[in-house]
Amino acid sequence: MSEPRTFRDEPVSFVRRSGRMSEAQERAFEELAPHYLLDVPRDVAWTSVHPEARLDPASEYGREAPLIVEVGSGQGHAIVHAASSRPDDDFLAVEVFRAGLARTMLDADKAGARNLRLVEANAPEVLSSYLPAGAASEVWIFFPDPWHKKRHTKRRLVRPGFPQTAARALAVGGMLRLATDWEDYALQMREVLDEAPEFERAFEGEWAERFDGRVMTAFERKGIAKGRDIRDLAYRRVQ
Ligand SMILES: C[S@@+](CC[C@H](N)C(=O)[O-])C[C@H]1O[C@@H](n2cnc3c(N)ncnc32)[C@H](O)[C@@H]1O
Repeated sequence: MSEPRTFRDEPVSFVRRSGRMSEAQERAFEELAPHYLLDVPRDVAWTSVHPEARLDPASEYGREAPLIVEVGSGQGHAIVHAASSRPDDDFLAVEVFRAGLARTMLDADKAGARNLRLVEANAPEVLSSYLPAGAASEVWIFFPDPWHKKRHTKRRLVRPGFPQTAARALAVGGMLRLATDWEDYALQMREVLDEAPEFERAFEGEWAERFDGRVMTAFERKGIAKGRDIRDLAYRRVQ
């Protein structure tokens, strides 16, 4: 592989939280990471992915099955629930928050979910090169950081250019599912995806129905408590 570069070209959609991990979280990394956490060659930063690194899903999961990728899986509530209730599908959680990754591994282990892997990496790099093109049957993005201040909106994950990144990882006919409680971000998501020739709307009317595979997380609960509308969107990858 070529030498890593020393800077990223694009702003990232997260701030890396340092914070100490609890003993249980440290143990999760020691004991559970060998099964759950993918060992990714890095590029410019700890959360980067070397552009020549490729995942081979069939050898990693030991079978050929639909692959569902969750971007920004947080504590892993949605993906652990999905992986343990859908044993015929494979799941990949993409997250940069180490304590969240630890929680996800602990819960996955408790639930006996063996069809789940985690990757500690910046999601656009996973979608744009680490996954083989067309490998994902679905990509989920639930409650991405809203970056609500005007001067920060350029850090939003779903911004112009992102649909092409997600489209590369998705099989034709595959689904991109999103949810947010931040109205202005919901409008931005809909605008950039409506404009993308790689996608078509998979809903009638203004917004999609609540995706029934999405479990309630703290972020949705907080949005509801603040009186915000929860917006779901669903787009199909087209040729
Ligand atoms: C507001 S939280 C929502 C978590 C979860 N989806 C939920 O609904 O509970 C957003 C998460 O996305 C992660 N995140 C943000 N940008 C990311 C990126 N570029 N790559 C991977 N994870 C990212 C953050 O670390 C954070 O845990």
